[in-house]
Amino acid sequence: MRRIFSGIQPTGIPQLGNYLGAIRNWVGLQRDNECIFCLVDMHAITVWQDPQALREQTLAQTAVLLASGIDVQRHILFNQSAVTAHARLAWIFNCVARLGWLNRMTQFKDKAGKDRENHSAGLYVYPDLMAADILTYKATAVPVGDDQRQHLELTNDIAQKFNHDYGQDFFPIVEALIPPQGARIMSLRDGTKKMSKSDPSAQSRIEMTDDADTIMQKIRRAKTDPEPLPSEEAGLENRPEARNLVTIYATLQQCGIQDVLDQHGGEGFGPFKKALADVLIQHIAPIADETTRLLKEPGFLRDTLRDGARRANVIAEPIVAEAESLVGFLK
Ligand code: TYM
Repeated sequence: MRRIFSGIQPTGIPQLGNYLGAIRNWVGLQRDNECIFCLVDMHAITVWQDPQALREQTLAQTAVLLASGIDVQRHILFNQSAVTAHARLAWIFNCVARLGWLNRMTQFKDKAGKDRENHSAGLYVYPDLMAADILTYKATAVPVGDDQRQHLELTNDIAQKFNHDYGQDFFPIVEALIPPQGARIMSLRDGTKKMSKSDPSAQSRIEMTDDADTIMQKIRRAKTDPEPLPSEEAGLENRPEARNLVTIYATLQQCGIQDVLDQHGGEGFGPFKKALADVLIQHIAPIADETTRLLKEPGFLRDTLRDGARRANVIAEPIVAEAESLVGFLK
């Protein structure tokens, strides 16, 4: 049985991209794997977070994950800062990773933009902590969206250098599990930009707690072009907004892009958007309702995370203690 690890930042309500690119796959992987899922609050503070909001969002995300089908009886869900082994291994990895490797990380460049000097050192070494998250458990498979691909390549570079430097086959090589469709859901306002929790416009994303009216309204206002839908996939070329809406529809329905075009090709966006909103509501409404119910039980959500952290710690502690011995820390 493979050990799976994945994480999500507790910075706002998960959006449709998080769900289709990651969370839904986490749920499916629970059947045949040992899974560890983490709310990465230490990653979250690499950019400013209001402390009270961070606490609330950590619980809210726990509710969304449980409502989506994460099974905490059989698998582990916890918040990162509660298992100190992550921070200890991350420090070792800060000393293993090379500056040149970190300089190539496109996500840092995107987030820091031109104002590089004014960002936290934590944002720069973010991928080292991510490698530590995974390797703290010697996990071998990581289900993520497309934007995390480069970070997982770096994880493998770090694992290999650690193994080489300390003369052991200690850390495994990690496989990225990136879904063939839905790994990069785009903004509803701009088909060339990734859908994101941190986009200032809430109109750019569907949140997993949106009600039916909100979903309907966001999809109605979603940017499109004046042409009807093509009947062949090639007709979506250079039409990023149209492609994105068709991709969302296909991924939700677990069918191919061409299947959607066979059904809706030639239609204007009016009727297609109505069909898309209906499918979205069908998938999201039950998750939103269950999230609302769970949010009324903050004590239960806290206990769930605490229990997850305790079980995560049992796996993490011996692995990180051995890594510390390998680098020469006196015990
Ligand atoms: P985060 O919180 O940005 O996103 C969580 C997951 O959602 C995926 N995702 C998307 N997939 C498709 N389309 C989108 N528009 C979209 N937006 C986000 C992400 O790829 C991710 O899988 N660095 C990670 C969290 C992390 C982590 C880890 C992941 C920390 N440690 C260890 C895996 C393993 C992040 O910021 O995810």
